[in-house]
Amino acid sequence: MGSDKTMSGKESALMPKVCGHRGAAGHAPENTLASIKKAASLGVRWVEFDTKLTADGVAVLFHDDDLGRTTDGAGLMAETSLADVRCLDAGSWFGEEFQGEGVPTLEDAIRELSALGLGANVEIKPSPGREEETARTVAEILADRWPDGVAPPMVSSFKEDVLATVRDTAPGLERALLAFEIPGDWRERLKRLGCVALHVQAKHLMETQVRAVRGEGFALRAFTVNDPTEAEKLLAWGVDGIVSDYPDRILAVAEST
Ligand code: G3P
Ligand code: MG
Repeated sequence: MGSDKTMSGKESALMPKVCGHRGAAGHAPENTLASIKKAASLGVRWVEFDTKLTADGVAVLFHDDDLGRTTDGAGLMAETSLADVRCLDAGSWFGEEFQGEGVPTLEDAIRELSALGLGANVEIKPSPGREEETARTVAEILADRWPDGVAPPMVSSFKEDVLATVRDTAPGLERALLAFEIPGDWRERLKRLGCVALHVQAKHLMETQVRAVRGEGFALRAFTVNDPTEAEKLLAWGVDGIVSDYPDRILAVAEST
C-alpha cells in the first residue's frame, strides 16, 4: 500500500474478532517469530505485537524498554545496536524449546506475516524521548513495504503524539487509540487523531461505553482477555474484537457469538 492513500472518515477495519496478543504470548515467547507462527497454527488470522527502535533506529518487535525480562541481555533496547540485538536470546526465558529465538525486526515480522497470511495490529511503544522518530519509522515501513495480499495493518498506541505523527506521515494507515480506561473526551481524541478504533483494557469496560463508542461508528476492542467467559460477555456487549494471549481459547466463543 502506498503512503499517499488517504482514509475517508471512519472505515471499518478488517481486524477479526480474535487477535493474538504479542503473537500468542501464552504459548510462545512474546513478540517473536515463534509466537507469530504459533498464533497462525492455532487458527488465528491476526496478531498484535509491540514495536520500538534499537539504538541505531531499526524498528524491532519488543515490549519493554529494558532487555532483562524477555532476553538474556541487559540494559535498554534504545541503547543497543541492531547487531547486538541480533545476538540476544529472546526465547529461553519462556522455555528451553525456544532457546535461540531472536528479536525480530519489523521487516522480519512483515515477511513472516506475508508467508503465513496473517494480519497485524502493530502497536508503537516508543522508548522515552523517541516518540516521533519511532512513529515515523514504523509508519514509513508499514506504508511503503506492506505486502499486497496481506490485510492492511491497524496501528495503535497509548501515545497520542505517536498517533498524530502516524496520521501525518502515512494518513492511509488505520489507527486505534489504546487506553487503560476510556477518557471522558474519547470522541474528541479519536476525531482529532483520525482514529477508527478505541482499544481498551477489558477490566475497565462497561457495556454502556461499548454501545456509546460503537454507536458513533468507531470500533471498540478489548485487551487482554484470556478467559472465554469474559470474552463471551464482552462480545455480547458488542465489542468488535478481543486481544488474547491464548487466542485459541477465545476463537470458539467468538464463532458462536
Ligand atoms: O494492544 C493491546 C495491548 O498490547 C496493550 O498493552 O502493554 O500488552 O502492549 P501491552
Ligand atoms: Mg501491545
